[in-house]
Amino acid sequence: MKVGILYSRARVEEKLLIEALESRGVSYDLIDDRELIMDMGKSSLSYDVILERCINHSRALYALRILQDWGIPTVNTHEVAMTCGDKLLTTSALIRAGVPSPRTLVAFTSESALQAIEQLGYPVVLKPAVGSWGRLLSKINDREAAETVLEHKEVLGSYQHSIFYIQEYVRKPMRDIRGFVVGDETICAIYRDSSHWITNTARGGQASNCPVTPELNALCVASAKAVGGGVLAVDVLEDPDRGYLVSEVNYTMEFRNSIATTGVNIPDRMIDYALQVAKNGGARR
Ligand SMILES: Nc1ncnc2c1ncn2[C@@H]1O[C@H](COP(=O)(O)OP(=O)(O)O)[C@@H](O)[C@H]1O
Ligand SMILES: [Mg+2]
Repeated sequence: MKVGILYSRARVEEKLLIEALESRGVSYDLIDDRELIMDMGKSSLSYDVILERCINHSRALYALRILQDWGIPTVNTHEVAMTCGDKLLTTSALIRAGVPSPRTLVAFTSESALQAIEQLGYPVVLKPAVGSWGRLLSKINDREAAETVLEHKEVLGSYQHSIFYIQEYVRKPMRDIRGFVVGDETICAIYRDSSHWITNTARGGQASNCPVTPELNALCVASAKAVGGGVLAVDVLEDPDRGYLVSEVNYTMEFRNSIATTGVNIPDRMIDYALQVAKNGGARR
């Protein structure tokens, strides 16, 4: 058994994954994405499974694609990275699977985006389709703010920012929930409390344990399945009337703040799953 870890920088998460491999005596290599050269038509790597831990979405996406071409099982799969790396595709997958998510409108010009925002009603949330850590999310409370953000995007933004992903603002409590899914199970979950409406821990959100009820487990597992399954972190918003709404699904999840908080050895469970995928010769569906 030989495991590869494709990574950009050994963060706390990668070190914990390495420890989990070492404690089992599994042999592994670290594959630095900054040094990687892939001859697309000719496999140059030989692993039973590769765990993808890149920081950059494009690198992850393309590397996973080529590894798939080479017949090397990966956690997660290229398909999962493609869907989860794009909030529009994630929302589409959730809707197809019947998983509740916030109402989302899409527009392609700033004029139609303004109309869409007015249709949805204030406040609305604008998100870049590709992005993370709460970056460039805008909560827009009135028409003047909408006009300003749209003008900024049009004049200063790259092409990516001309795809307008416009979401209702969910009047959640001052927190959201992140459920960690490994295969068929939500292994643990955290609340992320914050005085800011953006509750990412990267933005100062405080993690505390969230009990995994059967309802939360079913929702998170359904969300993970909807995007293709694997090792995933599901962001859940609590709507006062409708209950749980899934905001997004993350495919190269960070978990450093969640191990002591939940008492669950997340990296160990991830390695269990990766070894299972290796044994089966590919992800379970
Ligand atoms: N529609 C929404 N209504 C209310 N809060 C939201 C909404 N969408 C996102 N948030 C808040 O912003 C955070 C980041 O949003 P998310 O969609 O997960 O993007 P990112 O990829 O940047 O983490 C969420 O964890 C949540 O706290
Ligand atoms: Mg998120």
